[in-house]
Amino acid sequence: MIDKIQQCEKNVLSFIFDDNKNTVEKFRLDFLSKKGEVSLLFDSFKLLPPVDKKKYGEMLNDLKKLTLDTVTNNHSKNQQQQGYNKKLFPTYQNNPGSLHPIRIVEEKISSIFLSLGFDYAEAIEIEDDHHNFSALNFKEDHPARDMQDTFFIGLNMLRTHTSSVQIRELKKGVLPLRIIMPGRVYRNEDISARSNCFFHQLEGLYVDKKVTFADLKQTLFYFVQQFFGEGTKVRFRASYFPFTEPSAEMDIWAGIDTEENKKLTKGTGWLEILGCGMIHPNVLTACNIDSNVYNGFAFGMGIDRIAMLKYKIHDIRDMFTNDTRLLSQFTGV
Ligand code: DAH
Repeated sequence: MIDKIQQCEKNVLSFIFDDNKNTVEKFRLDFLSKKGEVSLLFDSFKLLPPVDKKKYGEMLNDLKKLTLDTVTNNHSKNQQQQGYNKKLFPTYQNNPGSLHPIRIVEEKISSIFLSLGFDYAEAIEIEDDHHNFSALNFKEDHPARDMQDTFFIGLNMLRTHTSSVQIRELKKGVLPLRIIMPGRVYRNEDISARSNCFFHQLEGLYVDKKVTFADLKQTLFYFVQQFFGEGTKVRFRASYFPFTEPSAEMDIWAGIDTEENKKLTKGTGWLEILGCGMIHPNVLTACNIDSNVYNGFAFGMGIDRIAMLKYKIHDIRDMFTNDTRLLSQFTGV
């Protein structure tokens, strides 16, 4: 027995590990599985007379500890090489996290526009009046400013929409420009199942020579077919935004077949997902762009609402309570 234990110990110590996690698994199988060397020694141990059990018990337990420690050490070595920090996230290896539904939807939307040749931009969340309102053609004391209840921070504010990023990008003066700008926005609104004091938007902008409303419609139409599926019905409704002229809102057909859909669409079957329009010449002028040479379109969509629609989440607040019963459903999406 003693020879067998010593031989097994030698085998454990001379086992060669490389960076591959499969070798750790092979080690585990060779020594610790039911038919592994250590387990077989324990099997024979059970048949020994009590005097011998006393003699070999401690040796065998030491061997098992050595084997288990070898597995653990090599496993965590592999994890560290892959950048996992075992101490900080002790449950990570058993409970892989998932992307948040908002992030998943943002990435899906972004990938469609990136495939169309749009670039990606983002900017700060604390804005000044110029970028959030004035340069976007919101006149002083114009009632349109009340469309967006604002959280002020002294003279600055939390941005009420991602349209402020349009101004920052246009001012860089690099044309033609085709970008999407996702981000979080804030409004001082009553919180309910349908609205929150912060939410997420994805802004789009295309500036070039001779851009048409048909380009805008076709781009958005393509997006909807890619995101929601071929044959999804859409409609454009005339609307008003100070920074676009003409302006429109786009609705998609969500249906009225279920109670939930009726509630979501206020009984119409149509759900508004974005605002859009041709960029107002005043916006281009405020960014030092000659509006006689350049024009373009812009759009801004609500990511939260699209996520609710796609994943049938009926209360916007459910997405921000960190409830793992909701979040864990997105593992692997
Ligand atoms: N910024 C608008 C809002 O938050 C949405 C919007 C409408 C963005 C029209 C646009 C646009 O770029 O062209 O309500």
